[in-house]
Amino acid sequence: MASINEILDNPTAGEKVSISGWVRTFRSNRFIALSDGSTIKTIQGVVDFESMDEAILNRITTGTALTMSGTLVESQGRGQSVEVQVETVEIHGDADPEEYPLQPKKHSMDFLREKAHLRFRTNTFGAIFRLRHALSFAIHNYFNEREFFYIHTPIITGSDAEGAGEMFRVSTLDPKNPPRSEEGKVDFSEDFFGKETNLTVSGQLEAELAALALSKVYTFGPTFRAENSNTSRHLAEFWMIEPEVAFADLTDNMDLVEDFLKYLVGYALENCQNDLEFLAQREAQEEKSKPQNERQSMGLMDRLRFIVENNFERLTYTEAIKILSNSKPFKKKKFKYPVEWGKDLQSEHERYLVEKHFEKPVILTDYPASFKAFYMRLNDDEKTVAAMDVLFPGVGEITGGSQREERLDVLTRRSKEMGVPEEDMWWYIETRKYGTCKHAGFGLGFERLVMFVTGMTNIRDVIPFPRTPKNCEF
Ligand code: 4AD
Ligand code: MG
Repeated sequence: MASINEILDNPTAGEKVSISGWVRTFRSNRFIALSDGSTIKTIQGVVDFESMDEAILNRITTGTALTMSGTLVESQGRGQSVEVQVETVEIHGDADPEEYPLQPKKHSMDFLREKAHLRFRTNTFGAIFRLRHALSFAIHNYFNEREFFYIHTPIITGSDAEGAGEMFRVSTLDPKNPPRSEEGKVDFSEDFFGKETNLTVSGQLEAELAALALSKVYTFGPTFRAENSNTSRHLAEFWMIEPEVAFADLTDNMDLVEDFLKYLVGYALENCQNDLEFLAQREAQEEKSKPQNERQSMGLMDRLRFIVENNFERLTYTEAIKILSNSKPFKKKKFKYPVEWGKDLQSEHERYLVEKHFEKPVILTDYPASFKAFYMRLNDDEKTVAAMDVLFPGVGEITGGSQREERLDVLTRRSKEMGVPEEDMWWYIETRKYGTCKHAGFGLGFERLVMFVTGMTNIRDVIPFPRTPKNCEF
């Protein structure tokens, strides 16, 4: 059975077709708009209501699952090249119009989040999830074409890769009555793995081990963070892509991240035109209801093309602090958080740099060591590390990465300073003892990428089933 996408792509009038899907609308007891999710487009079925069984006609309503069979003919109506002259309709499942939550009208994103089991059936979410698929595919394509190997890093881990301690515990101990040591502490040696274990926050450390043998690798998997941030850009469960390259330094890393992000955006522009055009129109409509000064300066398509066509701005954290200290919002005390060398940048600062000052993506490098992870390579000034964050308009930080500390003595010193438990990390540290070399990598937050490409403003709307604090429905 051909999909609607296949039929509309290459229609042959006169052909007999049989198409299964869900009814979007049924007008005038005659016109069925049927969707099967293969494309944003619906196909129109024209029913001869005089010859059709009335019991069947009555069951055709928004949401009904059915198969319509008939002949493909050139369409008389506007907006479509072909339609189906329907001869038979087989109903698979009814959708009671009194109860079916999705009516042929505009629903709010909040409402649809509560109906995550059905929101796949809307145009907007169909487009988003087809794009999510295309981008996943493009990621594997990109790396495969460049001789990177896909490494499956573990989901359950005994180490805290980012050293931030925001992890979900994995345990089979009875939470009401766990075994205890003589001092009364929970005895994790009795737990499933004989030690404390958590869901991973990043596959990087394991990817480094693989890169130090296979040279170019990447991971693409789920990661989990128990940070209690209820923002439009944070999830407790999100997907991350982490390439890691041996013999690469920070500049190589910046070149890779820029090329990679341009490729992905370019791939979407080339392969997902219909869905992007729909999302662009949708956004343009939303923009109209905003006050003039809150509207985006560019539409979705222009923003995407802009990424592909322009170089990212590269500058150090120290230079960024100078720019921010001389900025209007700083002087007018419009920033909520302080701008001060040694303090991390907040999203208001990042957005100023990207959206107001440079008006293009920015790669910020060489952050203070004090608030970055222990594995980042210490610069000669001993104050900053060879870190790099890519900041994008709208979403802020889209990737974070660094050149890694490959020197055994510096790594052990930094681990101690930052309280990283060496006994858990012996295997990581050993790679610096045996054939160490410079290497670098980064992590791309997949949902942040999908946000940027679809123009969605809430991260909960680009993952099928979002997990956020106090929310684990579906
Ligand atoms: O900056 P992060 O924490 O870096 C790492 O985890 C490194 N191990 C990556 C590496 O060098 N291999 O996270 C990387 C990216 C961020 O830039 C952001 O896009 C995304 O992951 N991210 C999140 N996305 C959604 N929800 C969250 N809670 C996220 N936390 C990070
Ligand atoms: Mg980061």
